[in-house]
Amino acid sequence: MSISASDIPNVSALQAIGDRRSIRYFDPERKLEDWKLQTILQAGRLASCQGNINATEAIVVDKDTCDLWDEVEECVSGFNVQIINQSSHLVFWLTNINAWYGRANDGLSTLAMSGALTKFHGWNYEFSMTQTIPRLMSFPTERTEGLLRFESGQAVGSATVAASALGVGSILIAFGRKPGGIEKAFGLPPNLKLTWGHALGYPLEDGKAGGQRVRLKFEKLFHKDEYGTPFMPDPAVDAALREVGMIQEQAPTPGRFEEIDALASKFSRDPGVVSWPEREINRLINDDDWDFGPNIKARAQQLIDEGGLPDYPEEMKETFRKLMEERGLDVKKYLGE
Ligand SMILES: Cc1cc2nc3c(=O)[nH]c(=O)nc-3n(C[C@H](O)[C@H](O)[C@H](O)COP(=O)(O)O)c2cc1C
Repeated sequence: MSISASDIPNVSALQAIGDRRSIRYFDPERKLEDWKLQTILQAGRLASCQGNINATEAIVVDKDTCDLWDEVEECVSGFNVQIINQSSHLVFWLTNINAWYGRANDGLSTLAMSGALTKFHGWNYEFSMTQTIPRLMSFPTERTEGLLRFESGQAVGSATVAASALGVGSILIAFGRKPGGIEKAFGLPPNLKLTWGHALGYPLEDGKAGGQRVRLKFEKLFHKDEYGTPFMPDPAVDAALREVGMIQEQAPTPGRFEEIDALASKFSRDPGVVSWPEREINRLINDDDWDFGPNIKARAQQLIDEGGLPDYPEEMKETFRKLMEERGLDVKKYLGE
């Protein structure tokens, strides 16, 4: 189908960020149009990358046309199997570790020719060739890999927001069941690393997926001038961001659990969600780090009132304690002691 600019939804970036959810129920009958896939990939391609080395690549997979689907399915973590099978396409985001070694020189040259790297900031050809580029190229692969995976994260973040702007559902998907399995299935050379799988399609659940998912409080995440001094958000800014659609009603919005059960019934799957023990819910809901609004607090209360919650697996407590202590974490806080 040919596409013209007037067919493309004109959604603001802030609205698209606000609308984005990880979508877990896709309409298996609906395929994404090629132009939408292309737009999503463009968002990844246009994301910023170090030295313009373009380390992020992707394989777009349609289960109806890809001969490797069975092998792909074997690699995905169990809780993702339904998701990928309902999705329209999978994108495997790859990080090319060699991009750094091969393209640092040319990437910087493109930036200079584009008028991005200038003498104003101290760029100098001889210094670049004798110092900067050889130093970058001498980084061990493990260091390069960390840097470039971050770059792929940037690309995927942009792609996800572009999908949201187009009304396309997306979710990142762990392929941890068979480490190295995707690289093997596609016969990728060792320099091409699978960074993440990304399922795309039209949401079968409401596009808002029951509301924006709770996060830690702004001021618990962001610091002002020094670590530990909270960067306090201005309520007037929050209110304005709500108005432009970036901050939205928090999950779970009314009807969410009925929606989940209706979807389960449609596909003969188990209804309901997983719940944690009462003591754990009480501990969490009183944790001041989290930005709990009225919807999730009411849900917590409803779960406690309804009862029938599981017991804490006391035999696991020591394992959790050990894992937390090894990292110097506040065991009291997380284990509620
Ligand atoms: C790198 C990454 C990997 C993820 N992997 C999975 C996954 O394998 N399965 C899944 O159901 N959700 C996965 N998610 C989705 C998160 O659980 C999701 O971001 C979280 O539920 C918050 O919801 P939101 O994205 O709707 O705000 C992943 C998210 C990220 C960023």
